[in-house]
Amino acid sequence: MRKRSLSGIKSTGIPHLGNYLGMIRPAIDLQEEYDAMYFVAEYHALTSVKNAKAMRDSTHLITAYFLAFGLDPARAAFFRQSDVPEVTELAWILSCVTNMGMLERAHAYKAAKDRGEHKEINHGIFAYPVLMAADILIYDSDVVPVGADQVQHLEMTRDMAQKFNYIYGEELLKLPEAMVRKEVATVPGVDGRKMSKSYNNIIEPLTTSKKLRKQCMKIVTDSKELEDPKDPDNDNVFALYKLFATEDEQAELAAKYRAGNYGYGHAKQELFEKMDAYFAPYRERFNEIKDDEDYLEGVLDEGAKKVRPIVEDVMERVRSATGLGGK
Ligand code: ADP
Ligand code: TRP
Repeated sequence: MRKRSLSGIKSTGIPHLGNYLGMIRPAIDLQEEYDAMYFVAEYHALTSVKNAKAMRDSTHLITAYFLAFGLDPARAAFFRQSDVPEVTELAWILSCVTNMGMLERAHAYKAAKDRGEHKEINHGIFAYPVLMAADILIYDSDVVPVGADQVQHLEMTRDMAQKFNYIYGEELLKLPEAMVRKEVATVPGVDGRKMSKSYNNIIEPLTTSKKLRKQCMKIVTDSKELEDPKDPDNDNVFALYKLFATEDEQAELAAKYRAGNYGYGHAKQELFEKMDAYFAPYRERFNEIKDDEDYLEGVLDEGAKKVRPIVEDVMERVRSATGLGGK
């Protein structure tokens, strides 16, 4: 049997370069060798998105992104998390074998608390890792392509599955592995911190050339003068350029940095041209399909139908083992 690859992305807005390199590209590349199942994590987005139109628009946008980047709906299932409401049932069942202490150690929850948002932290944020575990375990997933920030969630998922299996019976739930591409595990944003929607430091891969250029020009550098030699290994522009250039091209740019008389503005322009050329064909496809709601909804419906038998199989196993229902 082919192994299963599964991942999710929240419908919280427009995907950024970190999402693309860390998750979207690796996930799509796996569709050849794996049974690939990817979804828009609306339930997870609901912890912060409180507007129905924004939620639906983002779901469509993300679907169009995946399709433009080459997700093949004939091979992979691409669907809405909310079309599989059983994940919320499994999340409850897992909640009942999950220690509060583990959830209190979750990075996302701790970060929200450290930012002093304690009054605003809803239960969804606290329980977020349990729902994510349910997402993964309900498909008997083997691998989960994600960026480095999700590795802790995968460890928690394995913990919950192990605990469940220990209580109810060996091998009821399959233990998944995170799959992280080292060179893009944490893509930096224009300010050098991890690229993230919440930091306002993103580059949008499929925006217009003009906006892409503007975003590149916003990359923060040190204040060396044009004539000064520069250090490619301590520069955000170079760090991003590396992700798109061949080794020869990287060596060439590094030499220009070290020689001096080469400004960060020049480097930003080279980075922009590289990314613009790379993304141009995807952008064209994206613009063709992004407003075709019938097509996008059709893909999402088909995807949900495809995963249904797996969900039913796993949930039957879980209900039967836990004593829920009549069998
Ligand atoms: P964000 O972190 O911007 O809110 P999501 O949480 O929806 O985005 O992330 C979707 C996927 O993209 C996850 O697998 C996550 O690990 C990955 N990802 C997000 N930001 C980055 C980044 N800067 N570098 C690498 N991968 C990332
Ligand atoms: N938590 C992930 C994120 O913030 C999104 C997500 C939800 C996910 N469910 C998942 C990722 C299941 C992988 C598998 O990016």
